[in-house]
Formats: sequence, C-alpha cells, structure tokens
Amino acid sequence: MSKEIILDHWKHLYANRVALMFSSEIRDLLSLSARPDIISFSGGLPEVRALNYQKLERYTQRALKMNGDISLQYGSSDGYYPLKTRLAEVMKLENIDANEEDIVITTGGQQAIDLLAKIFINPGDHIIIEAPGYTGALNSFKSYEPKIVSIPVDSSGIITSELEQKLKELKNKNIQVKFVYVVPNFSNPSGYTLSLSRRKKMLSLAKKYNTLIIEDNPYGMLRFEGKPIPSIKELDTESSNQNVVYISTLSKIFAPGFRIGWVVAPHPILEKLTLAVQSSDLCTSSFSQRIAYEYFSDPCWKENVIDFIKIYSARRDIMIKTLENHFPPGASWSRPEGGFFVWLRLPEFLDTKEILADAIRNKVAYVPGSGFYADNRGQNEARLAFCTENTENIEKGIKILSKIIKDKIKLYRSFK
Ligand SMILES: Cc1ncc(COP(=O)(O)O)c(C=O)c1O
Repeated sequence: MSKEIILDHWKHLYANRVALMFSSEIRDLLSLSARPDIISFSGGLPEVRALNYQKLERYTQRALKMNGDISLQYGSSDGYYPLKTRLAEVMKLENIDANEEDIVITTGGQQAIDLLAKIFINPGDHIIIEAPGYTGALNSFKSYEPKIVSIPVDSSGIITSELEQKLKELKNKNIQVKFVYVVPNFSNPSGYTLSLSRRKKMLSLAKKYNTLIIEDNPYGMLRFEGKPIPSIKELDTESSNQNVVYISTLSKIFAPGFRIGWVVAPHPILEKLTLAVQSSDLCTSSFSQRIAYEYFSDPCWKENVIDFIKIYSARRDIMIKTLENHFPPGASWSRPEGGFFVWLRLPEFLDTKEILADAIRNKVAYVPGSGFYADNRGQNEARLAFCTENTENIEKGIKILSKIIKDKIKLYRSFK
C-alpha cells in the first residue's frame, strides 16, 4: 500500500488568503533563470554594477561612523525627514511639487502597493488595473480579495474609453471603485507609456466617479528618448480634492537592495499609510535611508542616472534590432522609450508557458504573459526584460528564442 506523502503538515491552519498568494509552475521554472549559464530576460534586475562602489563605501562609513546613533536606531514610521527633502528634490526633476509633509517613505514601492491595498480593499471591493499589469501589484491586491476589473492597454497605455465604460457600468450598479492602478511610464510589463490626453482623461474620470488613481512611477526617470509627459499627479492641480496617490522608488535610479520607496498622497491617506507601516515593519531601515540620504546629497547621483540610461538604451536597441532581424512574421513587440521591458506578442496558437520549458533547456528565460493578467489571459504573450543582460547576451538570447519559436510555428503548420 502506498503511503501518502504529506508535503505540508500545517495546511489546515493557513488563512484563506494564502491560496490567493499563488506561486506557480512558471515561478519554479523561473527560479532556474538565476543560474549563471542562463541568459535571463525574466527579472527586471537593475545594473547595480554601474554604481560607484567607492563612493558607496564612503557613504556607508559616514552613516555608521558619524551618524550611527541615527542609522542603527529605529526611525519614525513616516520616514527619515532629511531623506524626504532629497526625495522632494528628485521628484522636482519630474515636475512633481511635493514637500516633506506630503511624503511617506516605505520599504520599497512594493510595500507601498501592499499597504495601500491593505488600507483600501475590503473583500469583494472593486478595483481596476491595467492589463497586462505589474504582477507584484496584482498578487498583492489579490490577497485582499477584491474583484479585479482589467482594462486593456494599447501602445498609448490604458484604454480610457474602456475605462470610462466600465466606471459607468459599475456606477449604474451602485458600485464604488476603490482605485485604478497604472504604471504610466514604460510600464511593467508592457513598456508602453500613457499618453498625455489619456492621463488627463483618467484624471477627469477619477474626479467624476470619485475614486483614486494609484500612479506607480518607478521608471519615469529612465527615459531614453522623446519628451517627458507630465505625471497624473502633476496634472492634479486641485488642492482641495486630490485623486492621485503617487508611488515611486529608488530601486531603479539607485539600487533595489536599499529597499526604499515612497508615497505622495492627500494627508488623510498618508496618516492611514503611516499606521499601516507601523504594523508592518515599524519603519523603513534607518541605515538604508541614511545611506540613500548621503547618496542623493551628492549631485553625482544624476550622472549615475545618465549612465544607467546609456546602458539600458543600448540594451533596448540591441533587443529591438535582433527581434526585427530574427523574429518570424506574426510576432510583434512594444518599442519602449525607456524603462526595462519589451512586451512580446506571438501568433495566437503559441503558448509562451509551453515555450518557456524549451527556452530554459536552451538556456534562455523570460516571463510568460499570463501572470500579468488577473484572468490568466496573455497565453501567447511574454515579457522580455532588457535591463539585466549585456548586449552580447541579449543578441544571443533573442536569436535562440527566435529559433525555438520558428520551430514551433513550423511544427504547428505541419499538423494543419
Ligand atoms: C511597476 C513596479 N512597481 C513597483 C515595483 C517594486 O519596486 P521596489 O519595491 O523595489 O521599489 C516594481 C519592481 O519591479 C515595479 O516594476
């Protein structure tokens, strides 16, 4: 008689939400992509090697030797005030007018997303998210058990006519939408940028339907070409009734290891967010915040962002060029003007989850599209991150992928 193998003795104890924190066979496959012999287009890992390590050592020493009493101590839950001054200066460069009182610092943008979900979502509430949308947000939202309404994107970002239609439909049923979540610049995962007219439209819809926009902007400063577009936050000039909760992070313009993000929002929301920080991790690491303060007090940080832009734009260029030269007809992709990601669409009969196993066998990884949709659409789509690998590997990896895909198409046609 075969003996039952019990994989988890505590299954009967977990909260229902654990089932919603799905891991998947994809994630298991992708864990292989961390292997050094794999060319990885999967994770959006910033090129931290481009930072000046000598300077970082100096800042770290300063944080420890001169300010150890601050750096090694608990800090205030809303964040380290001098760093807020620096973050306000960073935002000024994107024309966002905010002062220290308008900012709460969080442990990365991811914590901001999760805590905003925590303070806004009751089970069964309606929220709206662009589709495809950032998986980190999608998974965090899911665990609070909302009804997720997906609005598709095109090359100008979330399609506001569909958003309007949906808001109207829900309003007619007396349903209050809690928020609309978008990544307006070089979105993760699509690479698309929300046009100015749609930003304005979104804002007017938020006002009309009395809801919030969560504007998540980790990539705005990593623009390779074209003119910056005002953020929705910047467009929201009414001081009495602000509809935008703005999130950003130092992960992409500095380093994700420091885990520093922040939120700008109407003060009553910031108060609730600060309470949520208290019950989540008391405060963002004082040590990280102090080093980040030192880093952003040296004007050289801007030169580093320029270095990042040069590196990423060269990587994007080679990815797009190799896709153009090698991918088969019927495949299409986004052409991002910045950020980290290209969104790939294959002919509908292809399944990017299935192809991933072959790709990994051939030592290339990417993320299949379905994880970026609340309803598992996107089976013929995929996210390709160009930020991580050098140009040589990008060219090599895309050529390998193109061969696999061409073979799959040939096989499919041979059965027709
Ligand atoms: C759109 C978006 N939001 C938030 C995050 C979270 O970033 P972090 O927690 O490192 O600030 C990421 C990370 O990839 C992202 O792409």
